[in-house]
Amino acid sequence: MAFPTTRMRRLRRTGGIRQMVREHRVSPADLIQPLFVCSGDGASVPIESLPGQAHHPADRAAEEARRVHAAGVPAVILFGIPDEKDEAASSAYAADGVVQNAVRAIRRAVPELVIVTDVCLCQYMSHGHCGVLRGGEVDNDLSLELLAETAVSHASAGADVVAPSDMMDGRVAAIRAALDGDGHSGVAIMAYSAKFASAFYGPFRDAAHSVPSEGDRRGYQLDPANGREALREALLDLEEGADMLMVKPALPYLDVLRSVREVTLAPLAAYQVSGEYAMIKAAAASGAMDERAAVLESLAAIKRAGADMIISYWAAEAAEWLH
Ligand code: PBG
Repeated sequence: MAFPTTRMRRLRRTGGIRQMVREHRVSPADLIQPLFVCSGDGASVPIESLPGQAHHPADRAAEEARRVHAAGVPAVILFGIPDEKDEAASSAYAADGVVQNAVRAIRRAVPELVIVTDVCLCQYMSHGHCGVLRGGEVDNDLSLELLAETAVSHASAGADVVAPSDMMDGRVAAIRAALDGDGHSGVAIMAYSAKFASAFYGPFRDAAHSVPSEGDRRGYQLDPANGREALREALLDLEEGADMLMVKPALPYLDVLRSVREVTLAPLAAYQVSGEYAMIKAAAASGAMDERAAVLESLAAIKRAGADMIISYWAAEAAEWLH
C-alpha cells in the first residue's frame, strides 16, 4: 500500500504523536561526565581549547562531581593532569597521584556516584606516548606492567571502573589479572576497544598536555579506514575479560558503533571526544548552529547507532536540558 493510502507524515503531525513513535531516547542516566583533575587546592583553571571545561584540584573535582550527580548523571570519568612527567610515568601509579586523590575526594563527597578512571600513560610520560618507549618504539609488553599497576592504584583509591585507553595488545587481560590478584575482583573494566588514531583528539591533547614530542599514535591506535579491525579488537577485549566496550570518537564512527553493537551483548559506550565538542562549540559561537539542538541531535544519533552509554563533555548540561 503506497501513497495516497500510506502517508508517513501522519505520524509526524503533532508533538504527542512524534513522542509516541520515537524509537530512541537519551536520558541523563546514559551519560558520563569527563573531568580533568590536577594537583593543589586552589581554584579550577579553565581550559582554553575546551570552553566550559577546566582543570580541577581534588576538592573542586568533588564539587563538580556533586553537580554532575545532582543533574542525574550517574558517572564521571577522570583524566589526570600530573605535575611531574618522567620516562616511567611514575605519577600515573603513585598512591597520592592526581587521579588517586581525586577518586578519594569524590568518593567522600558523593559516595553513590560511579567513578570511572582513564588508564593511560601518555599524560604522565615525558615523551607523551601511551606506553614505554624503547628504541624509538612503544614497547607493548613493558607497557602492560605499568598500565596494570596504574589500574590497581586507581582501584585501591576507590574507582568502580577502570578504562584503559592506551591500545596496547593484551592490556585488558593484564589489568584483569592484576586487579584480581590485588583483591579488586569487583572493579569493572571498560575497554576503549576501538580507539582510532583521530585528529578529533586535538583539543584534549592540548588540555591534557599529552602531545607526543616525537612521532604519533598510529603505531597503536586504529587506522580510521578500518571497520573490521575494530570488530576484532572488540571481540578480543571481550575474550580478555572486558565488562564493557567503547568506540571512540563517536560521530565520525557511528558505523563502527553499530557493527560492534551487532556482535556483542555487553554494554557499549561511545565517546563524544574533544574535537566533536570543540566543533559544535565553535559553530555555535559563530552563530552558525544552535548548540543545544546540535548536541541533543548528536546524542540521539549516537544512541540510535547502538550506544548504551555516552561519554560527553556536555553530560551534566545536557542532562539539565533533558529534564
Ligand atoms: C589518553 C586519552 C586521549 C583521549 C582520551 N584518553 C587522548 C589520546 O589518545 O590522544 C581523547 C579524549 C578526547 O579527545 O576527548 N590516551
